[in-house]
Amino acid sequence: MQFLHFGVPTQEEKPGMNLLEALGVYVTDPSADPFMIEWLRFLLRQDLAALTVHLRTKKEMSKALAHHELIPEIVALRNEVAPRTRLHMNGDIMDRASGERLAREFGFDGVMIGRGVLVDPYCFATA
Ligand SMILES: Cc1cc2nc3c(=O)[nH]c(=O)nc-3n(C[C@H](O)[C@H](O)[C@H](O)COP(=O)(O)O)c2cc1C
Repeated sequence: MQFLHFGVPTQEEKPGMNLLEALGVYVTDPSADPFMIEWLRFLLRQDLAALTVHLRTKKEMSKALAHHELIPEIVALRNEVAPRTRLHMNGDIMDRASGERLAREFGFDGVMIGRGVLVDPYCFATA
């Protein structure tokens, strides 16, 4: 199914947003927002128990490097909008030790490991 338009409601006008006059809200277009930070803000406002961020766009699939450079911005957004939501990162994290290192360094709560388990079935082991 193809959506003609899909957006994230917000109160704040920013460049590239469209005003839906009938509803009185501005919407972003996630497909034009390469890293979907506004979409994350919307999700975090839903009072989620936990959120896992895949650190890639849908278009990139697993073919591009995961955007670890966005982690500080995402953690700051979680801290601002939903400090009680546990934040997990996914993408190019190959084993437990590097996941724990990243989580400690950047202040998020856990990781999801995908292809790491295909390389090393013991990648979740503590030592
Ligand atoms: C064998 C395999 C199956 C996957 N199946 C799904 C899936 O059904 N749905 C999904 O959203 N992601 C799926 N993924 C993507 C992973 O959830 C993950 O986002 C991706 O592998 C990136 O993490 P990584 O760099 O640790 O591998 C799959 C990945 C692998 C390796």
